[in-house]
Amino acid sequence: MGVGTYVPEKILTNKDLEQMIDTNDQWIRSRTGIKERRIAAPEQAASDLAIPAAVVALKKAGVAPAEVDLIIVATSTPDMCFPSTACAIQHKLGCTKAGAFDLSAACSGFVYALSVARQFIATGTAKYVLVIASEVFSRVLNWQDRETCILFGDGAGAVVLGAVAPGQGIISAHLAADGAGGHLLTLPGCGSRLPLTPDLMKQGLHYVTMEGKEVFKFAVRVMETGALKALELAGMEKDDLDLIIPHQANSRIIEHVAKKLHFPLEKIMVNVDKYGNTSAASIPLALDDALRQGRIKPGDNILMIAFGGGLTWAATIVKWV
Ligand code: UT7
Repeated sequence: MGVGTYVPEKILTNKDLEQMIDTNDQWIRSRTGIKERRIAAPEQAASDLAIPAAVVALKKAGVAPAEVDLIIVATSTPDMCFPSTACAIQHKLGCTKAGAFDLSAACSGFVYALSVARQFIATGTAKYVLVIASEVFSRVLNWQDRETCILFGDGAGAVVLGAVAPGQGIISAHLAADGAGGHLLTLPGCGSRLPLTPDLMKQGLHYVTMEGKEVFKFAVRVMETGALKALELAGMEKDDLDLIIPHQANSRIIEHVAKKLHFPLEKIMVNVDKYGNTSAASIPLALDDALRQGRIKPGDNILMIAFGGGLTWAATIVKWV
């Protein structure tokens, strides 16, 4: 797997937020673990964050853009409704023979996309798949709503997948959804149900809305069950795992899950303090940080587990090559 990431230069700290809304650094740190997050420049859209991440991933994998067969972009903040962000990236990178599409599974999008890529490779339909997660949540947040705007940040991560020997790479994948909880985390406006109008904007329906407490409870529940399901599908036990890379939404969620799974926190990657919740991009950003910190070596079993709007959740176990 070639891995690449990109985060915008601008850092927004909790102290900065204190100047904008009624919040404080101590509350944000203790309730979420977040210290700062990155904010895209006005001219940067999702594809602009994705491209530098993808360039690094391709270089590390030793794959030329023209060799890529498929580009999947996990995002809830695409450049525009259509054409897809994946098509913009396909063009800008010069992936001349690649098919390209966006995948919508909110914060679970990267793990969903890995699973889709795995199928294309397993069937021999694709030799190389470029999976990207890129998010610019700063554009869809209500910066007056302290319950949401303190949580999210912008960033992108990319990986290049190709065939590996049996028993290596993606060992198991579990995708799940429960649309009954769709209203808990949503961006209701701007689609075909509520097209953009001045009235819609006045009501703030073009912003992210979230029932935080309910999402918290859901997250703790499905992170545990999803992890156990991925282990079962892989024929592994918890002790076989070398590292868990969870969706970086809230360090308290991660601590609850560690406790429920009886899994040591030292073997769980956490970098929510640096980037906040970057939705689909959070797992590849954490994966890249784990690699930089030397926390992953060939042969390690890594569980990646995500949850998010939909509601969706997804878990995959990768034997690192
Ligand atoms: O990728 C998927 C994403 N979403 C999530 O993972 C979110 C999951 N949920 C959460 O992480 C947490 O529910 C939050 C961090 C969103 C909120 O934490 P909480 O511990 O559930 O806080 P709360 O909503 O129960 O609020 C506690 C208090 C309230 O004041 P009162 O009613 O006790 O006086 C809030 O008004 O904290 C207040 N509060 C804040 N205070 C300072 C809420 N937001 C803030 C804030 N700064 N930003």
